[in-house]
Amino acid sequence: MTTVAILTAAGSGTRLGRDLPKAFVEVAGVPMVVHAARRLAASAVVDAVVVTAPHRLVTQMADVVSGDPQVTVPVRVVAGGSTRQESVAAGLAAADAADVVLVHDAARPFASADLVRRVVAAVRDGHGAVVPGLPVVDTVKAVSAASHDFRTPPRPAATPSGAPITVEPVTSTPDRALLRAVQTPQGFDRALLERAHAAAAGRAADAHATDDAGLVEALGEQVVVVPGEESALKITTERDLYLAALYARTDA
Ligand code: CTP
Ligand code: MG
Repeated sequence: MTTVAILTAAGSGTRLGRDLPKAFVEVAGVPMVVHAARRLAASAVVDAVVVTAPHRLVTQMADVVSGDPQVTVPVRVVAGGSTRQESVAAGLAAADAADVVLVHDAARPFASADLVRRVVAAVRDGHGAVVPGLPVVDTVKAVSAASHDFRTPPRPAATPSGAPITVEPVTSTPDRALLRAVQTPQGFDRALLERAHAAAAGRAADAHATDDAGLVEALGEQVVVVPGEESALKITTERDLYLAALYARTDA
């Protein structure tokens, strides 16, 4: 079986707010995208990596990732799209000869080689769509955007300084024991992921799923969760970079 990992790195990193795309931002002196690619290679179950890059930075991305001596698998770089979903689709089109496809975010640089192996093993065991997930520590409320979900019409709320407070009606509290916060890498049977993306391409842009497994669910096909890990956290803001630096120190 051939396993190809699509490493999404074409985002701009708006919320991090640096003057370079997030994937190039360094943690402990190494760009995030390189940390992620090193761990994919170290898993020894990934045969090749396809990186999606901002379209102006395809050559630079290839130099940075392929030039790293610890990235010991073949690397191909393609231009990403304007959404993550489009970037994954572009990566998938370039994932020649893969039977198993992993989709992984460069924004999760410390997802370990062990985690990669766990996801790939589950796909090879016959699960068509596999996501790592962690139990949720907070109680989660579902809220409504519809004003008719208020039992009584809300009076405008404001802080003493006059700043308006957003008040949302709660519609339910899902059982926390049955919730998982999901991460990447997500692993797929290649044909199933292609079918999911083909179906998604025909849907309205506002129906975009926030992960690839969501596209598989939309087909009515089963997705399974395997244990995730704290170190696979996603770097979104400056605060996350502090945490990531801790993992860079303790990681093999
Ligand atoms: N990504 C991508 N193509 C896009 C948008 C995002 O390949 N058009 C990738 C990012 O590079 C990242 C992953 O998808 O590795 C998860 O996205 P996110 O954390 O939202 O990163 P950014 O979109 O770069 O950040 P922001 O939303 O703050 O701009
Ligand atoms: Mg984004």
